[in-house]
Amino acid sequence: MSAALIVLAAGKGTRMQSDLPKVLHEVACAPLLVHAIASGAALGPSRIVVVAGHGADAVRAAVAAHDPEAEVVLQAEQRGTAHAVAQAAPALAGFDGDALVLYGDTPLIRPETLARMAEARRHHDIVVLGFAPADPGRYGRLVMEGESLIRIVEFKDANESERAIGLCNSGVVMASAALLFDLVAAVGCDNAAQEYYLTDIVGLARARGLRATAVTCDEAETLGVNSRAELAAAEAAFQARARAEALETGITLTAPDTVHFAHDTVVGRDTVIEPHVIFGPGVTVESGAHIRAFSHLEGCHVSRGAVVGPYARLRPGAELAEDVRVGNFVEIKNAILDEGAKVNHLSYIGDARIGARANIGAGTVTCNYDGVSKHRTTIGADAFIGSDTMLVAPVTVGDGAMTGSGSVITRDVEAGALAVARARQEVKPGFATRLLARLRAARNTTQEGER
Ligand code: UD1
Ligand code: CA
Repeated sequence: MSAALIVLAAGKGTRMQSDLPKVLHEVACAPLLVHAIASGAALGPSRIVVVAGHGADAVRAAVAAHDPEAEVVLQAEQRGTAHAVAQAAPALAGFDGDALVLYGDTPLIRPETLARMAEARRHHDIVVLGFAPADPGRYGRLVMEGESLIRIVEFKDANESERAIGLCNSGVVMASAALLFDLVAAVGCDNAAQEYYLTDIVGLARARGLRATAVTCDEAETLGVNSRAELAAAEAAFQARARAEALETGITLTAPDTVHFAHDTVVGRDTVIEPHVIFGPGVTVESGAHIRAFSHLEGCHVSRGAVVGPYARLRPGAELAEDVRVGNFVEIKNAILDEGAKVNHLSYIGDARIGARANIGAGTVTCNYDGVSKHRTTIGADAFIGSDTMLVAPVTVGDGAMTGSGSVITRDVEAGALAVARARQEVKPGFATRLLARLRAARNTTQEGER
């Protein structure tokens, strides 16, 4: 059956103390909202509707960047979670499938948990995701009778014995879209908060003789972000999970707690990742690569057998073929390094293509920017670029060519040629000895005079 996601993301997030809408704050380099949508992807939804309010334009842009097919509807006034869901009804009119309600500020729900909810949906009209937190605090409480969920009572409206219930509402709900919209339309706001509570649909459904139940998950999954401290906690939880998954899939992390992954990092098995490696978005590393300590990777691809770092920086568009070496204090941006190429020390390679087995000497710089535009550097296979070569782009060095150390290369170098572009060395015998003697004598005369 097809499914629709309804992601509630209209809230202001006052406690974030931010100009940015809460759901656009990032965990592992992706907005909270994108994490929520990504966990919902477990159900293979054919429709995604985000309910935006505060900062709706920014939310709309972020949603479009993530998934151009996703729709954004506006909840101009935040009158409660049922009211928010109701705003998605016109967009999903006639949708013949299940709807899953998620919160845009809750990034850690596991796909397996949603799969269990879908399973429970086969025998129940409404499935709610519950959890038993260490401190139930002000969460809504799930009133159960055996397997059956009788109703949900908000903390503000709960009596003493209801507040003693340990099973809480996460806010995640699954029902057929038609039933969901039918029920939210019947929800009133006669309660402590004068809000339209989504939680009321359970009692309404029961009154119609329908069946509701709860599936439970770990408290860590339902962590909602309301403050910067909770954002940091969500980041920590994400990283802990990503590190554990990396280890389970056969990646060596010598100091797991110091490695930071992005939401979309892909690493193949038998890759070794040393301490303090940071992954920005868009990184793929094949099997059997070695990422050495203190390297920073973003928007790049590292192939099998490549060694990166220590202290390397791979920026967007860096593509390292098999067995490439990128060493310490090397920055690579928008450049393809063919098989076996080496850039081992203190270099900047940007807007370039480096041929197979080429060796780039220490301190080489592709001077790619003239102050207005970027230009490309092309280095052929088996080329040898001497240390401290400045390659003033656009420029091409042919296959098997060499440049002399300290050269400033402004013209193309043909295959097999040697280019040297630096002042010719002069040697003046005895000059240093005479010069130093003269300087010392001059200093002594000055000091005599001062005494
Ligand atoms: C809600 C639940 C509570 C549950 C808790 C879990 C209701 C009535 N209560 O309470 O049972 O234990 O979540 O965290 O559903 N939102 C909108 N528009 C609105 C109101 C809310 O988009 O008009 C969004 C918020 O941005 C947020 C989410 O819905 O992402 C939850 O809203 P919030 O006000 O935080 O609900 P709680 O009172 O915490
Ligand atoms: Ca909340």
